[in-house]
Amino acid sequence: MIPMLDLVSEYEILKNDIEDAIKGVMSHQQWINGPEVKRFEEEVARYLGAKFAVGVNSGTDALVIGLRSLAYRMRGKERFESAEEIITTPFTFTATGESILRAGAKPVFVDIEDDYNISPEAIKRAINKNTVGIVVVHLYGNPCRMDEIMKIARENNLFVFEDVAQAFGTKYNGKFAGTLGDVAGFSFFPSKNLGAFGDGGLICTGDETIKSFSTYLRNHGGRDKYNVEFVGYNSRLDTMQAAILLKKLKHIDEFISRRRDVAKRYIEGLEGLSEIVLPAETKGGLHTYHQFTIRVLNGKRDALSGALKDEGVSSMIYYPVPLSSMKVFEGKCRCESLDRCSRFAKEVLSLPIGPTQKREVTDRIVETIRAVLKRI
Ligand SMILES: Cc1ncc(COP(=O)(O)O)c(C=O)c1O
Repeated sequence: MIPMLDLVSEYEILKNDIEDAIKGVMSHQQWINGPEVKRFEEEVARYLGAKFAVGVNSGTDALVIGLRSLAYRMRGKERFESAEEIITTPFTFTATGESILRAGAKPVFVDIEDDYNISPEAIKRAINKNTVGIVVVHLYGNPCRMDEIMKIARENNLFVFEDVAQAFGTKYNGKFAGTLGDVAGFSFFPSKNLGAFGDGGLICTGDETIKSFSTYLRNHGGRDKYNVEFVGYNSRLDTMQAAILLKKLKHIDEFISRRRDVAKRYIEGLEGLSEIVLPAETKGGLHTYHQFTIRVLNGKRDALSGALKDEGVSSMIYYPVPLSSMKVFEGKCRCESLDRCSRFAKEVLSLPIGPTQKREVTDRIVETIRAVLKRI
C-alpha cells in the first residue's frame, strides 16, 4: 500500500543525526526544559524571522495558550468572555475551533474560497460589535490572502491569530506564515512539515507580553514554581523532541522543495481531467503542500477513493465534516452562509505526498487515477 506519508524512509535519511541528538539528551538527562528547548526556540525564531518562539506540548496547546495570551494582552484577563466572537473557518481540524472555546470565546464560522482558505469577504460580512479577532488557517500549507485579512483586521481593531499547524515553511509575500499576524501556533505532530517523534507545538509572536504570558501558562501559570498567578497547564516541549526538531530543522528547506516537486509532478500528470480540480497556489505565496488535495466532481469522490484503495493507493478526506456540523460546537458558535465549505467537504480528496516520495510512485498514482476515472 502506498502510504499517505512515508516517515520510515524519511528516518533513514536522518537516522545518524537523530540518534546523536537522542543520545545527547540521554547523556545529560535533562528531560524537562533541557538546553535543547531554548536552543530550538532561538533557532526556529531566527529561521522564521519571528521575535519570540515559545515551545509547548502540542499544536492544540499552542492555539489555546496563544489565544488566552491575546485575551490577557488585550483585556488584562485570562480568558475571553463567552459573548466575545472570534471569526474562523469551519474547514479545518477540530483543534482550531476547540481552542477558541477553550480560550472562552465564541467561534464564528464563515465560508472559504476556492483555495480552501477563509474568505476575506466573508470575514468582513461577519464582523459585529462583539468581534475581537480572526483565526486564519493556512490549510494544506497554502497561505491565506494575508494582505487583505490584515487590512480588514486593522480597520476593525481585531487581532489575527495564524493557525500554522499545516504550514511550517509556507511563505506569503516573502515572509514566513506565522510571522504575518499577531500570534501564531505551529504543530510538530509527526506528519507535519516539521514533525517531531511525538506531540509538540510552538507559539510565535512579536509581542513581549504575549510571549511572557505564554511562558507562564505552559508551566502551570507561574512566573516561577511558587509564584503562581494564573490557571495554567503542564505543556512544555519535551527536551528530546526539541533535540530531534533541531536536527530536522536543518533539512526543512530541502524537504519542502521535494514536496513541491511531487506536487508539480501531480499537477503535470493530472492536468486536463475534467472531473478533477487541482490545487492552486495563492498569489504571492509559497505553498508547502503539507497535503496535495484535489476535488473530484460529479459525486465521484468516494468511488475514486475506494478504487484507489483497491489498487493499493492510500487517500484521505480532510475534512469530511465542517466544524459547524459538529455536536461540540452546537449552541456555542455562530454560523454564516457556508455553501462552498459544505460542497467541498463532499469533493476533497488528499493524495499521498512527502519529501521522500519517488517520481515512480507519484506517476503510478497519476496513472491509477486516470485509469479509474474512465471506469467509474
Ligand atoms: C489546522 C490544524 N490546527 C491544529 C492542529 C492541532 O495540532 P496538534 O495535533 O499538534 O495538537 C492540527 C493538527 O493536528 C491542524 O491540522
